[in-house]
Amino acid sequence: MFPAASLLTIILLALSITASPIEVGNSPITLPIARRLNVSNGTINLLQQDRARVVALKDNSLRHGGHHSAPVIDVANKYLIAAEIGSPPTTYNLIVDTGSSNTWVGASTPYVVTKTSVNTGQPVANSYGTGVYFSGTEYTDTVTLGRGLTIANQSICVASIARGFVSVDGILGIGPVDLTEGTLVDEPTTTIPTVTNNLHSQGTIHREMFSISFEPTTSEPVTNGELTFGGTIANKHAGPIAYTPITTTERAANYWGIDQSISYGSTTILSSNAGIVDSGTTFLYIASDAYRMYMSATGGNPDPDTGLLLISSTQYNALENLNFHIGSETYTLTPNAQIWPRSLNTYIDGSINAIYLIVNDIGTPSGEGFDFINGYTFLERFYSVFDTTRSRIGFAQTQYTNATTN
Ligand SMILES: *[C@@H]1O[C@H](CO)[C@@H](O)[C@H](O)[C@H]1NC(C)=O
Ligand SMILES: *[C@@H]1O[C@H](CO)[C@@H](O)[C@H](O)[C@H]1NC(C)=O
Ligand SMILES: *[C@@H]1O[C@H](CO)[C@@H](O)[C@H](O)[C@H]1NC(C)=O
Ligand SMILES: *[C@@H]1O[C@H](CO)[C@@H](O)[C@H](O)[C@H]1NC(C)=O
Repeated sequence: MFPAASLLTIILLALSITASPIEVGNSPITLPIARRLNVSNGTINLLQQDRARVVALKDNSLRHGGHHSAPVIDVANKYLIAAEIGSPPTTYNLIVDTGSSNTWVGASTPYVVTKTSVNTGQPVANSYGTGVYFSGTEYTDTVTLGRGLTIANQSICVASIARGFVSVDGILGIGPVDLTEGTLVDEPTTTIPTVTNNLHSQGTIHREMFSISFEPTTSEPVTNGELTFGGTIANKHAGPIAYTPITTTERAANYWGIDQSISYGSTTILSSNAGIVDSGTTFLYIASDAYRMYMSATGGNPDPDTGLLLISSTQYNALENLNFHIGSETYTLTPNAQIWPRSLNTYIDGSINAIYLIVNDIGTPSGEGFDFINGYTFLERFYSVFDTTRSRIGFAQTQYTNATTN
């Protein structure tokens, strides 16, 4: 994720709480997600940010180093939840991240010790890509994510060092619990229960799962999504949710990983392989051989300013569907879903009327167990369900799957 640019575009998806009825102890519980574009510090290269994250996701061993010598690259694309911690509570703005599993605070707002704070004295550290990491001390405390979503005794880390996090307080990690292994510095084989684990074990949600609904949008600010703990919301998807087991192929199996093949039009560009679904990655990434086939089929050329594939309007008019074959279902990114919203071109150093594709090279050949990342640009078009209890991930079409918004 994230360069230190002189000017900095921050896409913020801020999560707020609505007054809609919430069924306590009788899931699901839904929190609306609002996205806003923060251009107060200029433009930023989102692709460069993503790439730093992709490298760290692919190589687990990189996640536990500090990379103290690396340049700081601020996390620019994020959506936030306002979490209340302690009693009386202090509000912290945390990045919601499906690709990591530690919850921590302290990057901006100082942690306030209250009567519910317990210092366990354990050192904790994690890295999210070169130049982006935290280290600090573990506490347990009361964490409230929204009305009815209170977790007692949640392990959090209070960071004494946090690099790469501007205008946010930390992360709410909702990836698989095993990703916390190695982050308790003195107990490297011990995992730390995530907020989803604790919501379930404390009986607040009946099924250990959450679902995410985004609506593609080019206007800012706007409430464009929802995070639902414990279930799914029927009116957020069009048609049934189809589930696929979490992949058993390493390294994707460490994350919210699935098996899928990809075709462009009727041509297979990636045979069935493992990869991950990740809300914290902005673009779509595919294995180098698949990317080369996509590049040649679309006629796109890497653009020196944005790093994305640039196509002409003639090439855009000739684009075919990009099809993701998952289980027995096919999920299609239409031509319009394969391009970056043109109204946001200038935020990524692009030209106003240019057409940029959102498909990128993951940097390694297929067959290595980490052959794709279905990032935010995919999740905007499909409802997604992350189900720990049944070890599966679900997708469904939404009213925006075929929308022409870009
Ligand atoms: C804006 O960007 C500059 C250059 O990267 C950086 O030094 C500064 O801290 C940033 N300001 C904010 C408020 O993020
Ligand atoms: C936008 O980001 C800057 C830092 O780059 C921060 O100072 C400012 O508060 C942010 N504005 C909003 C509305 O989040
Ligand atoms: C709180 O967490 C600590 C440390 O993990 C544990 O020893 C204790 O039993 C927990 N208390 C409750 C009420 O869950
Ligand atoms: C999207 O378009 C495809 C192809 O025309 C169609 O099969 C599908 O039902 C559409 N989805 C929605 C939600 O309208």
